[in-house]
Amino acid sequence: MVKISPSILSADFSRLGEEMAAIQDGGAEWVHIDVMDGAFVPNISFGAPVYGCVRKHCALPFDVHLMINEPIRYLDDFVKAGADLITIHAESTDRVAETLTAIKERKIAAGLSIKPGTPVEAIREYLPLCDLVLVMSVEPGFGGQKFMPSAVDKIRALTALREELGLHYEIEVDGGINAETAPFCIEAGVDVLVAGSAVFGKADYKAAIDALRG
Ligand code: DX5
Ligand code: ZN
Repeated sequence: MVKISPSILSADFSRLGEEMAAIQDGGAEWVHIDVMDGAFVPNISFGAPVYGCVRKHCALPFDVHLMINEPIRYLDDFVKAGADLITIHAESTDRVAETLTAIKERKIAAGLSIKPGTPVEAIREYLPLCDLVLVMSVEPGFGGQKFMPSAVDKIRALTALREELGLHYEIEVDGGINAETAPFCIEAGVDVLVAGSAVFGKADYKAAIDALRG
């Protein structure tokens, strides 16, 4: 069954602990944490101290999506704040293999993400180092954008490559996921759906999460 990782970027930050407890009660498998630096993407969200404080309110795995330049500089902070998986962007550093290895050395899972303009081929060499590959289905930076269908072909390509190369990474998709777009990703073989506005924008989080599973 597909896992749901609600993005807290669309949560009420003044009640972050309660919001995270509420998605856990609603049946989410993971919680997606979007860290933005205002340089790799044109927006600033929050850093490790913010999500570190709410660790005690939520027992779900922390799926930390780093939209920051040269993420290797801050790995210890993100791990200490409670990350279970750290995903970096292929476009954010020339040290992709070194950063993925450094994440795994810290005994947590390592993910690699590609923006809509980056082809799957560009990360082929790094796939053996990945526990997860994150396909962006919007330009990273903001919640509430429209799903780009080109992501579905990338999910298909990653599913086929996993089989061909005998690898075991999970495939996650992020951006514009809702009850209408999720089925295309599920059909293409996605393992984890990230959804911000389609969960936190609704009154009933459990119903919203169930609707994504189809
Ligand atoms: C965008 C973030 C997403 C975002 C998704 O840069 O990585 O996780 O919060 O929001 P929705 O689901 O509203 O598109
Ligand atoms: Zn994200």
